[in-house]
Amino acid sequence: MKNKIAPSILSADFGNFERDVQKLEAAGADVLHIDIMDGHFVDNLTFGAGVVAALRPHTTLFFDCHMMVEHPEKYILPLKKAGANSMSIHVESTPHLHGTLQQIKNAGMKAAAVINPGTSVELIKPVLSLVDMVLVMTVNPGFGGQKFLPETIEKVSMLDALRTEKSLHFEIEVDGGITDETITSAKRAGANIFVAGSFVFNGNIEENIKKLKNKLK
Ligand code: DX5
Ligand code: ZN
Repeated sequence: MKNKIAPSILSADFGNFERDVQKLEAAGADVLHIDIMDGHFVDNLTFGAGVVAALRPHTTLFFDCHMMVEHPEKYILPLKKAGANSMSIHVESTPHLHGTLQQIKNAGMKAAAVINPGTSVELIKPVLSLVDMVLVMTVNPGFGGQKFLPETIEKVSMLDALRTEKSLHFEIEVDGGITDETITSAKRAGANIFVAGSFVFNGNIEENIKKLKNKLK
């Protein structure tokens, strides 16, 4: 599977999204990771469909929306209209994981299931044949700049094994505390999409993306 770097705009300058997104695209980002938080599911509040729509004319990057919200189903149509390409839904956020993923697919977007560090792979086994991607959180969701939790990597290996066993094709994304050091264990375990916020934005964006890509060779 193709390795992809997915910078998170949570670490961008909130007064200069257009400039930062264009910098990311020019620097070789593969995917734009958009952290949508509602102040309820997590203790932080970011942006919604309005900002996604405003960014859409400024880049051709794939928009990967990570939904840290309650009632994720309410955001499907607004985000589709705004130009989002995928939505990742936390299993902890809804009793209707399967139905919500189905609705996302029916709306014409890619769909992903997300598990927190304290959530077991067992909980998403029933939807593995439905999803395009699984996101394994490698920190607790809510804030950028946290320390990578190495114990979460075992779940990436488990998902990689299940994928082979069931002949499935979902991608595996990791998010939180990814640096040019932690990326190696995630890749080795079977992840192919690597979200990075603070590592990419701290210093020279182009050099930092290159550093991550070099570790994937
Ligand atoms: C955390 C977000 C992440 C965050 C990652 O809740 O889901 O996408 O931006 O930031 P870093 O790479 O700084 O851990
Ligand atoms: Zn995220």
